[in-house]
Amino acid sequence: MLTKPTPEGARDYLVPSRVNPGRFYALPQSPQLFKQLLMVSGMDRYFQIVKCFRDEDLRADRQPEFTQIDMEMSFVDIEDIMAINERLLQKIFKELLNVDISLPIPRISYREAMERYGSDKPDIRFGFELKCINDIVENCGFKVFSEAVRNGGDVRGININGYESHFSRKGIQKLEDYVKTYGAKGLAWIKITEEGIHSPIAKFFTEKEIEEIIERFEAKKGDLILLVADKPDIVFDSLGHLRVEIAKQLGLLNKNEYRLLWVTEFPLFEYDEDEKRYVAKHHPFTSPMDEDIDLLESNPGQARAKAYDIILNGVELGGGSIRIHNTNLQQRMFKALGFTEEEAWKQFGFLLEAFQYGTPPHGGIAYGLDRLVMLLTGNDSIREVIAFPKTQNASSPMTEDPSEVDEKQLEELHIQVKIEK
Ligand code: AMO
Ligand code: AMP
Repeated sequence: MLTKPTPEGARDYLVPSRVNPGRFYALPQSPQLFKQLLMVSGMDRYFQIVKCFRDEDLRADRQPEFTQIDMEMSFVDIEDIMAINERLLQKIFKELLNVDISLPIPRISYREAMERYGSDKPDIRFGFELKCINDIVENCGFKVFSEAVRNGGDVRGININGYESHFSRKGIQKLEDYVKTYGAKGLAWIKITEEGIHSPIAKFFTEKEIEEIIERFEAKKGDLILLVADKPDIVFDSLGHLRVEIAKQLGLLNKNEYRLLWVTEFPLFEYDEDEKRYVAKHHPFTSPMDEDIDLLESNPGQARAKAYDIILNGVELGGGSIRIHNTNLQQRMFKALGFTEEEAWKQFGFLLEAFQYGTPPHGGIAYGLDRLVMLLTGNDSIREVIAFPKTQNASSPMTEDPSEVDEKQLEELHIQVKIEK
C-alpha cells in the first residue's frame, strides 16, 4: 500500500516518511504498475481483491477508499479477457440473484455509444436514442441551428416517443433548466399532437424541413422531440444526461433489469485544456489499436486504444485494457503525453527497464467491487454498501477525520503546515 506517487490519473493520497525527511509514499490508486511487473517476471495470471485510494471529488458512486476486483493476464487479447469476464459476471448474477445473463454481452464502440446515447456508459434499459440533424438544418432559417452547424457544432435530439402528453410547457421548461446545468444554451422542442405540430421553432422551418426532422426521428402522433444545438461535447453530455433523467421521471428504470454492455475502442488520449496537452484517457500503459499506432505522432486525438469498459445500467462497473509491452512504443506514448525521455525514466524507469527483458503481451481489467455490490443490492449510493464511508467532503463525522495532529507528530515527520486563508 505504500508506493510511489504517480502524476497521471487521479490525485494521490500522500504519506510522509519519518525516516526519509521530505519524502512521501503514495497510497495506490490501483495496483496497475505492479500487476504489469508481475507479468514481466513470468507470473502469467494475477487476481486480487484490493483496496485503492483516490483523492477525487466524491459522487454517489465514488469513495476515496474503495475496493477493486483486479486481474492481469499474459498472452491474452481483448477477446480472452472479455470471455473470462463474461463468465465471471454470469456466475455472479446467477449465484447471487438467480438472474440469467445471456452471453455474449453486447458490445459497442465508444464512437457509437456517443452517437446513440451521448455517453460512454449508456443505460440501454430504454430507448430515446440520439439522432443528428446537421444535414437537415445547416441552411435552415433558425439561426441557432444553422450557425451551430456552420461553426463546427452539432444539432442532435431525442424522441421521447409516446410521452408527448406527459410534458406540459412548464415540464419542458424544467427539462431545459436541467440541460442548462450541462452547459446547453436551450432546449428546442417539437410535439406531434392529435391536432398537429406544436413547436416554438416550427415557424423558422420549411414544411419539408419539418417533415425531414420527423422522419429522422421516426416520430408519430404522441411523440416529443427535444433538440440541442451546441459544440459536440455539450450536445452529447446534455442529451446523454437528459435521456436518463426523463426515463427516471417516467419510471422506466427497472432496478431488477440488468443490462450489461461492453464499450470498446476508447480514444487513447483526451485533451486537457488546463494543462494544454494530451493526457491518457485510461492510463499511459494502454496500447493503441494496431492500425492507429502511427497516429501517436500525426494525430493523437484520433488514436483509439485497446481499452474497454463494462457498463451495467448506465454505471461504469469496470475498465481495462491491453497494455503496451514494448519499450519503444511506451516511449512514443510518453512523448505524445508531453514527457521528456528523462522525465519518463525518472517516473517510470522501473517499468521501462523491466520491459527490456522481454515482456509477454498482457492485459487486464478491474471492477469497482463496491459499485457492483451497490447495483446488485439495488442501492443508489455506494455509501450504502461500505462500512464507515466518507461524506461528500471526504470526512467522517463520527471519528472526525481527517483531523489536525499534534505539533510533535508533525515535527517527527518534518512537516510544516501552511493554510491559505
Ligand atoms: P479504473 O480507473 O477504470 O481502472 O478503475 C476500475 C474501476 O474501479 C472503480 N472505481 C471506483 N469505485 C469507487 N470509488 C472510486 N473513487 C472509484 N474509482 C474507480 C470503477 C472503475 O470502473 N488499473 C485500471 C484497471 C486496468 O486497466 O486493469 C483501473 O484502475 O468501477
Ligand atoms: P429563442 O429564439 O432564444 O427564444 O429560442 C427559441 C427556442 O429555441 C427556445 O425553446 C430555446 O430553448 C431554444 N434554443 C435556444 N438555444 C438553443 C440551443 N442552443 N439548442 C437548442 N435549443 C435552443
